Amino acid sequence: MTHIFPDGFLWGAATSAPQSEGGQYEDGRTASTWDKWFEMEPDRFYQGRGPKNTSFTYERYKEDAELMKAINLNSFRTSISWNRLLPDGQELNQKAVTYYRDYFTQLKKNGVEPIVNLFHFDMPWWLMEKGGWENRESIDHFSFYAQTAFEQFGDLVNYWTTFNEPIVHVTCGYLGEYHWPKVFDLKRAIQVGHHTNLAHAAAVKAFRKLGQEGEIGNILNLSPVYARSNDEGDLLAKTNALELHVKSFLDPTVKGRYSDYLVQLLDENDLLPLTEEGDRELIAEGKVDFLGVNYYQPLRVQAVPESEKNQPARSLGDFSRHYNWPEKRMNKHRGWEIYPEGIYDLAMMIKEDYGNIPFYISENGMGVSEEERFMNADGVIEDDYRIEFISDHLANVQKAIEGGANCFGYHLWTFVDCWSWLNEFKNRYGFYRLNLETGERTPKKSAFWISEVISQNKLIDKNSIHY
Ligand code: GAL
Repeated sequence: MTHIFPDGFLWGAATSAPQSEGGQYEDGRTASTWDKWFEMEPDRFYQGRGPKNTSFTYERYKEDAELMKAINLNSFRTSISWNRLLPDGQELNQKAVTYYRDYFTQLKKNGVEPIVNLFHFDMPWWLMEKGGWENRESIDHFSFYAQTAFEQFGDLVNYWTTFNEPIVHVTCGYLGEYHWPKVFDLKRAIQVGHHTNLAHAAAVKAFRKLGQEGEIGNILNLSPVYARSNDEGDLLAKTNALELHVKSFLDPTVKGRYSDYLVQLLDENDLLPLTEEGDRELIAEGKVDFLGVNYYQPLRVQAVPESEKNQPARSLGDFSRHYNWPEKRMNKHRGWEIYPEGIYDLAMMIKEDYGNIPFYISENGMGVSEEERFMNADGVIEDDYRIEFISDHLANVQKAIEGGANCFGYHLWTFVDCWSWLNEFKNRYGFYRLNLETGERTPKKSAFWISEVISQNKLIDKNSIHY
């Protein structure tokens, strides 16, 4: 293998507004669910630090753009805060327009292509009070917000995305307690999922109608699904998991429709969401130009024991069960499996089953706690584990490209250590270390390494890095 990446490959990193900006209630910004939840239940958060300051990007974005250039990144994803741009959902906040315009301009001045996402788990509180995504009105509110963003920043942004991991606010908020409103109700979860798919499609429709330059995509957390064995029950669990966890958003996003299998599965279990006339047509308008693929770990499943099955189903565990593969390699800090080959398998699925639509790896990365353990005498975190992680995944990206996959970039999660929801800063992910008190950014060893990889446009050994 040559290990050379294609010309124009997008090298970069990703973050989101709620995890990096700070400037919590400054310049007219109102609360999102995260701000309110922290005010109500600070103890639910790792160290009670909350979403107030995060990575101070609201003040330090110019410096960040320069730091990206310093390590040769040519692209970067962040999101717009809906509740900053439209504090009450209607009135445009000029200070937010000025901020984001300057942010994106600074990136471009430094040779960094902005990829701008609209929703990254941050539901405005005023809308959550009306039921959030459960309320059908959320679709129109989102589409108005999307259109406003396209109009205000369309001349600066070539790559738009609607959602980040849309299945996550469904499963963590309506089938778990990791996102507000932390309820457990499969039927409500599916309604939220349907409205989210409609909101995505409405935003794509608004984008097309404006006839702006640029492309629009959706960022999905995709996992290859592996069955414990080839036994019938395990294979059924695999099909069900693929339909519910992967295709539920991937099919509408790329094919403009839900799969017949999924609709039938939901119907059989009395789980179909409420729909309205025109939903099918709207979903068909949501087809994207490209996909962002967040990949962290595979999904391993096995059959659900008959004696434990609810009929009709009441949770996703009635369709498939997690399988603990004894041979797995783990990132113990995050509790996630490390399986770089999964990227190749995903890429082949996209190539074969999804028309080889262009995609980029929009998130991949390794969260590690107490990284100061690896700080050398010069204050540099020697994160060889991260270099190895990225390297192993990039080798699979390369293999996929050689196998004909249409992969046009790779972004690490994240650029500078950022705030990770309930986990806050427990695990660090960045190319740059963040000093939580001063906001100072210091490059880690992986930052020096990636800058060399990018300049040579090929994988290089970690030991050949001098810094
Ligand atoms: C992703 C998510 C990010 C970040 C990352 C690392 O699922 O999109 O916001 O938190 O996980 O935990």
